[in-house]
Amino acid sequence: MSEQKPLVVIFGASGETGRSIVEGLLRSGEFRVAAVARNPSKPNLVKFAERGVTVHQADLLAVTQERLREILTGADCAIATLPPTCIEAQKDIVEAAKAVGVRRFVPDDFGTEAPTGVMYLHDQACPQSSHKLAIREYIKKSGLGYTFIEVGYWMHFVVPWPVQLTGFAADLTREVVGTGDVPLALTNLSHIGDYVARVIKDDRTLNQTVLIWEDEKTQNQGWAHTERKLGSDFVQQKKKIPEAELMKQLEAARAAPPEQIVMRYIAEYRYSMYIRGDNTVAKAKAAGALDFKELYPDVKAPTFEEFMDAFYESPYVPYADAFET
Ligand SMILES: NC(=O)c1ccc[n+]([C@@H]2O[C@H](COP(=O)([O-])OP(=O)(O)OC[C@H]3O[C@@H](n4cnc5c(N)ncnc54)[C@H](OP(=O)(O)O)[C@@H]3O)[C@@H](O)[C@H]2O)c1
Repeated sequence: MSEQKPLVVIFGASGETGRSIVEGLLRSGEFRVAAVARNPSKPNLVKFAERGVTVHQADLLAVTQERLREILTGADCAIATLPPTCIEAQKDIVEAAKAVGVRRFVPDDFGTEAPTGVMYLHDQACPQSSHKLAIREYIKKSGLGYTFIEVGYWMHFVVPWPVQLTGFAADLTREVVGTGDVPLALTNLSHIGDYVARVIKDDRTLNQTVLIWEDEKTQNQGWAHTERKLGSDFVQQKKKIPEAELMKQLEAARAAPPEQIVMRYIAEYRYSMYIRGDNTVAKAKAAGALDFKELYPDVKAPTFEEFMDAFYESPYVPYADAFET
C-alpha cells in the first residue's frame, strides 16, 4: 500500500494568509490539506473543497476539545493564521494537537521582526486575547513540536498605486514615514504558501523560528521604481509623514479606546519598521531566526521591483474591504 501524504490542517484558511498557504500546499502536491472555518459555504472554501481540501466547520471561540481532536486526528502539522481575537484560543489547539500526536504546530505569527515592548499585538496581554509571544512560550512548555514563522511585511502594503489602477484608494501605501531610507524585509503574500510548504517538511526548522523574506528595500527605493514605471505626476501624490507626526499618531492610537485597536496595530507596525528599523533580516537573525534564503538557496525569490512590475500589470489588493473606493 502506498504511503499517504502528510496531512496539514489550517485554521483560518479562508483569510488572506490562510488562502495563500492552502494554495501553496496544494501547488506543492506533497500534502493532504484540511481547512477549518466558521462558514464552509464561503466561495473560496467551496472551491478548495472541489480541489480535494477537507473543510471542517468550527468556531475557535466556541469549539470543544473533542471536536478539535477529531479535526486534528491523523494530522502531521497544524497551522494557524487568525485574527487577534483567536490568539488565546490557540491554547486549545495546542492541547488537542498534543493529545492526538500532531508533530508540528505553526501558530499564528506571520508578523515582522520586532523586539518586545514595541508592538501590542506581538507581546502585550490585553483583556480580550493573549499575545503572539505568550503563545510561543505556551507551546514550548507543552512539549509540542513547533515552527514559529516570521515574515517580511507584505509587499502589497508598500507598493504605491493610483486609485484608477485598482478602484481602491490606499493612503497607507502613499505615505512615506520618517526619512523613507530605512530598509525593511518584504514578502509577497501570494508566495507565502509556497515557502511554508518548504519549511514544514524540513526537519531543520522543527522547534525553530524562521524568517521568510524575499527582498529588503526602503520606501524611497520603492518610490524610485514607481516613478520609473508610472511617471513623475503620480509621485506628486506621495505624502511625507515626518517622525514627529508619526509619534503623535502613535501616542493617539495607544490612548484610543479598544474598538480602535486596529489603528494601534498599524501605528506600531509603522513605528517599528519605518522609524526603529526593526524589520530587517540582520535583526531577525540576531534574535535567533533561521534565514529562509540560507535554508533554501534554490528558491529564486523575486525582488520588490519585480513584484511591483507584476502588480502594476495585474494588481491584487488584499484586505480590499478595508480600503476606500
Ligand atoms: N506580514 C504582514 O505584512 C502581515 C499583514 C497582515 C496580517 N499579518 C498577520 O497574518 C496573520 C493572519 O492574518 P490574516 O490577515 O491572514 O487574517 P484574515 O485575512 O483576517 O483571516 C482570518 C481568518 O481567521 C478566521 N477566523 C476568524 N475568527 C475565527 C473564529 N472565531 N474561529 C475560527 N476561525 C476564525 C477567519 O475565518 P472566517 O471569518 O471565514 O470564519 C479567517 O479565515 C495574523 O497574525 C496577522 O497579524 C501579517
